Amino acid sequence: MAHATLNTAKEAKKDEFYTLLDDIAKELKYYTQYFQGKVVLCNCDDPYESNFFKYFALNFNRLGLKKLIATCYDGSPVAGDELPLLFEIEETEPKKIAYKVEITEVQDYNNDGAVNLADVQYLIQNDKNVLSLLKGNGSFDSPECIELLKEADIVVTNPPFSLFREYLALLDKYSKQFLIIGNINSLAYRETFKMFQQNKIRTGYTNFNVGMYFQVPDSWEKFHHLENGKKIARVSTSCWLTNLPVTKHNEDLILYKHYTTEEYPKYENFDGININAYNDIPVDYEGIMGVPLTFLDKYNPEQFEIIGLGISNSGLECGVQPYKPDHKKYRKEVQKRGAVDGDLYMMINGEVTVPYTRILIRNKKPQKP
Ligand SMILES: C[S@@+](CC[C@H](N)C(=O)[O-])C[C@H]1O[C@@H](n2cnc3c(N)ncnc32)[C@H](O)[C@@H]1O
Repeated sequence: MAHATLNTAKEAKKDEFYTLLDDIAKELKYYTQYFQGKVVLCNCDDPYESNFFKYFALNFNRLGLKKLIATCYDGSPVAGDELPLLFEIEETEPKKIAYKVEITEVQDYNNDGAVNLADVQYLIQNDKNVLSLLKGNGSFDSPECIELLKEADIVVTNPPFSLFREYLALLDKYSKQFLIIGNINSLAYRETFKMFQQNKIRTGYTNFNVGMYFQVPDSWEKFHHLENGKKIARVSTSCWLTNLPVTKHNEDLILYKHYTTEEYPKYENFDGININAYNDIPVDYEGIMGVPLTFLDKYNPEQFEIIGLGISNSGLECGVQPYKPDHKKYRKEVQKRGAVDGDLYMMINGEVTVPYTRILIRNKKPQKP
């Protein structure tokens, strides 16, 4: 059964963040060379509302794409107005139909001297092979969408956050190249984290941890500002994720601090030191270090080895002890701070301190102390 049918209304609400064209262009400009002759799939994208579809349709010739496929899920709640839809079944609401658009060329059909959205609209409305209804609901994991996935070389989209795990697992299963928007918190999901460890995923170029703006449905009461009458919300934890090459992940992070026992407390339940910001990583520490998730944006697999996640239930064998037998008395204190057995904790000024999610890493080439 397609996962979408398991969505609760609450989860679906979290998914209604529509990526702005500017943000897509800002990130995509770094990957131009990887699109030549490729089949691109946007599989969470109503062509009439998605800026991913718009971006690739408008840049189809410049990127040298072989084919662009976009599929619309029938639960999509934002009706697009940029390209008014002319379905043959007129009485049916366009946004409730699952369909796909497949484009293999974009020309200046209206002879206005430029290839633009009017040409894409002309193509969709006049070429019967371009737009077709799907049999199922258009969920990315439905059989017909999986067939499209198999045909694709690169998948590019902002998938529903509530289905992020399932979505990434599918891309991994079919070994697809991808460029997607995720959430920093999802980096600590066991499945995503394992892919980082295996160097099968990395963060993109757009500044990490500064947030991105998204269009949200008109019915939303909370939003950041209005842009051309559209409601725009800010998501501070958005990030781009890809398995395409990203040059910064081949560059060493410049380290300038030196290890001291005073500055870097040891965890009580794990043989490692705590570090609160990636640029505080000491250049000369040989052991395991717990660093915040933001480290992943600077991670160069040639420079560091990722050992595991310092949180409970991570399922990653990293040897974190729930609590040492001689520290049983701290267990209650650790739990009071919202942590559970298996979360890292340390003592600072005699107080139990539980850091936020830590990644356990080791420097592959530490400077001799
Ligand atoms: C975060 S929004 C992003 C939409 C678009 N990709 C963009 O970036 O503007 C996620 C979209 O996925 C759609 N969606 C939800 N469940 C889906 C599923 N199982 N398969 C495909 N799309 C789904 C939602 O309706 C929503 O339009």
